[in-house]
Amino acid sequence: MTLILGIETSCDETAAAVVKDGKKILSNVVASQVAIHRKFWGVVPEIASRKHLELINPVISEALSRAKIGFSDLDGIAVTYGPGLVGALLVGLSTAKAIAYSNNLPFVGINHLEGHIYANYLEHPSLRGRGPSGPEALKFPFLVLIVSGGHSDLVYVKNHGGYEVLGRTRDDAPGEAFDKIAKFLKLGYPGGPIIDKLSKNGDPKAIPFPRSYFKTKETLDFSFSGIKTAVVNYVTGHGSRITSYREKLSSITRHSLPDLVASFQEAVVDMLIKNTLRAAKIKGVKRIVLAGGVASNSRLRKRLGEEAKAKGLGLYYPREELCTDNAAMIACCGYYKLKEGIESDLSLNAVANLSLSVT
Ligand code: KG4
Ligand code: ZN
Repeated sequence: MTLILGIETSCDETAAAVVKDGKKILSNVVASQVAIHRKFWGVVPEIASRKHLELINPVISEALSRAKIGFSDLDGIAVTYGPGLVGALLVGLSTAKAIAYSNNLPFVGINHLEGHIYANYLEHPSLRGRGPSGPEALKFPFLVLIVSGGHSDLVYVKNHGGYEVLGRTRDDAPGEAFDKIAKFLKLGYPGGPIIDKLSKNGDPKAIPFPRSYFKTKETLDFSFSGIKTAVVNYVTGHGSRITSYREKLSSITRHSLPDLVASFQEAVVDMLIKNTLRAAKIKGVKRIVLAGGVASNSRLRKRLGEEAKAKGLGLYYPREELCTDNAAMIACCGYYKLKEGIESDLSLNAVANLSLSVT
């Protein structure tokens, strides 16, 4: 039995988790700072670092206590060292180093994006013949779409640590577009879940917002800044002095707020699906995987699920709490790294713009 403590502090969640053998979550504690950052309509880096400092020790204690273990029962520590906010990352990284050093435990730095991918191994724990086999088995190779507040990456995964980045966003990440549109419409923060919920009562075809694709055949990159501007122009074009969009939108345009956000969401989902299916065809994969906060979007899951099925492809995604930032995914990824003898030393530093290919 191998017990790994995972620590994650890359953005605004202070998280610690204990995972057994890379697949069984014994505890998964997430202290969200959303309520604090909400009044600023986004994450304030300095506040995030300070809150991580206050929360990190209690969160780790809680994770150990829920798993009913102490430091001496651990076999290793895994911690996010990038990408993310440097001050925030340093809190988790320094804590992990201190625990590793004082308890003489191996520790490994994890790329946050790689962690998001491994959330799927917690959900579909079937690698290397372990766990259930059959249609639910997530086996190599597969294509993963990592969609979060900071990223939109299409990655071909050959094996553990074997990544080929096929496309990424040239400007905003999809979660960022959801958050910025929600901010513009004064709906709240974070915007993704709010827009997802509101869209359920709207017509996704109500407003034909433009979709951006790159002309060259080879590029599977994304761009979400155009759709953001299109929504802003649509609303301001119908009355630039509106203060409460929720109440007044339907009186100034033919469409309700749910129609507007459903049409925006549909455009984002269309762009994500088109490139993902193209990439799946190019690489000849049978399995598509979703990861990151936006992977919990109900419309993306439904539409991609239907379109993938029609093409004979399997779609995999983690449950909602494993899509957004958490430390169980970091512990799971750490298990596979440590098992392969990959360890970090105490000189490891935080890397704010760490990319997947250099892990
Ligand atoms: O992965 P995550 O927790 O943090 C980052 O690594 O960025 O993702 C957070 C992002 C936010 O932008 C949030 O609005 C978005 O994920 N998000 C969603 C949904 N739930 C969270 N976006 C669309 N639909 C959702 N249901
Ligand atoms: Zn994330």
